[in-house]
Amino acid sequence: MKKINCMILGAAALLLCCCVGAPDVNTSAYVPKSKAFTPGKILLDNNGRHVNAHGAGFLYDNGRYYMFGEHKVGGTLGNKSIVGVHCYSSEDLYNWRDEGIVLEMSRDPESPIVIGTIIERPKVIFNQKTGKYVMWFHMESRAGPRAKSTNIDDIIAEKPSYKTAKAGLAVADKVDGPYKFVGAYRLNAGKYPMGDESRMKQSREKLDKEYPNWRKMQFKPSDKNKDDIYKDASFLKYFEEGQFLRDMTLFVDDDLKAYLICASEDNATLHINELSDDYQSLTGHFARVFPLEFNEAPAVFKRDGKYFMLSSHCTGWAPNPLRVAVSDSIYGPWKPLGDRTRGFNVSESDRKVNPVLNKQYWRDAADSQTKDTFKSQSTYVIKVNGKKDAFIYVGDRWTPRDAIDGRYIFLPIEWDCDGLPVIRWYGLWDLSIFDKKQK
Ligand code: DGJ
Repeated sequence: MKKINCMILGAAALLLCCCVGAPDVNTSAYVPKSKAFTPGKILLDNNGRHVNAHGAGFLYDNGRYYMFGEHKVGGTLGNKSIVGVHCYSSEDLYNWRDEGIVLEMSRDPESPIVIGTIIERPKVIFNQKTGKYVMWFHMESRAGPRAKSTNIDDIIAEKPSYKTAKAGLAVADKVDGPYKFVGAYRLNAGKYPMGDESRMKQSREKLDKEYPNWRKMQFKPSDKNKDDIYKDASFLKYFEEGQFLRDMTLFVDDDLKAYLICASEDNATLHINELSDDYQSLTGHFARVFPLEFNEAPAVFKRDGKYFMLSSHCTGWAPNPLRVAVSDSIYGPWKPLGDRTRGFNVSESDRKVNPVLNKQYWRDAADSQTKDTFKSQSTYVIKVNGKKDAFIYVGDRWTPRDAIDGRYIFLPIEWDCDGLPVIRWYGLWDLSIFDKKQK
C-alpha cells in the first residue's frame, strides 16, 4: 500500500513539474531536438533549462542566429538585473545552445551597471568597418539620495526607478562576448529633431510666456488631440539634460546605416536616431514619431523598400493590442496600420455554444486572442536567412511575479493581399510555412 502511495505521489510530482515547468532546473541530460516552434511553452536550451533571454534581440552571424536578452532570476527580484545579458545561439531557430552571460552586472557599487540596477532589451549589431559587435540597451542606474549605500544587498533592495532612462553601450570582439561596458547616456542634449528647429524655438518662447509651469507638465495619450504646443513641450522638457531612452531596438538598413529607435519623453514619443559609422555613438540626426501617442517595445523590419514598425501601448508588464506602422523612409512619416494580429476571440458564451470541443482547443483559443497580441509584447522581428520575405515576430509573455518564467512567442509574419503584414496564432508551426504561396 505504502509503495502504491509513493508511486502515486511520485507521479503527481512529475506531472506537476511538467505542467508548471521548473525553468531554472537542469531537467535532463538529453534534450530531444525540436523541429517546430511552440509559442508560449517552456523553451528548452541544450542543457534542458528554459531559455533565459527576455526582451531579446537577434543577430545572424556566420551561419548561426544569436539571441541576446535579459537574464531573469525567480520572483519579483527578476524585474531588476542581478546577473546580466544572456546569449544563446542556434542554427535553425528551434534549438538553442547556451553561450553564457556575455555582459555581467558589476559588483562595484560605483559602476552604472552594479547588480540591482536595470538592463533591459539588449540588441546587438555587427559593424563591418570596425569588426566589432555593438550592444545597445536600456538601462536604469541608481539615482538621487537612494544611491548612497555601497552595500550590494542595500542596492538590490532599492526600489527600482525608471527615471534615469539611459542608453547603455557595450562592445565585443566576438559575437558571444565578453562585452565590455562602455557607458550610459541620455540622448541628443541641446539638439533639435531634423527640420523642427525653428518651430521648436517659437514653441519655447510661447511656453515661457504663456505656460510658466510648462517644465512640470505631465502628459497622457489624450493630450495628442490638444494644441500642438503640448507635443513640443514634451520634447523641450528634456532638451538641456538630454532625451530619455527606455524600450529600444536597433535596425541596420541595406546601406549599412544603423538606427537606435527608442521610447523617449517619458514614453510619450518614439525617437529614431541615426548611429555613427562605427555604431557606437549618435550622429545627432533624429526624428520624433507619433508624439504623445505613448508607444513602447518598438521592433523594425523592412520588405521591398518599405519599413514596418511594431510597437505596443504603455501598460507596464501587462499585454495590450499590437500597433503596426509603415513608412517609405526610416524617419517617417509613419502611417499607422492598427492591430494586424488575427486569431479568434473567445468569450464565455462561445464556450457554452461549443462545449464539446476539447481542452487543447480552448487553450489554443485563449492563447490566440488578438486583443492582447497573444498575451505578449513585441521585442524583435527576425529576418529568416535564405527565405524570401520571411520574418518572425518575437514577443515576451512577461510574468513579473516570477520573472524567470516569462515565455517567448515566436510567430510567422504573413503577407496579406494588400501587401501588409498580418500575424496569426499557431500553437505549433515550423519554417516551411514560409515556403507556402502567400496571398
Ligand atoms: C514595459 C516595457 O516594455 C518593459 O521592457 C519594461 O520596461 C516594463 N515596462 C517595466 O514595467
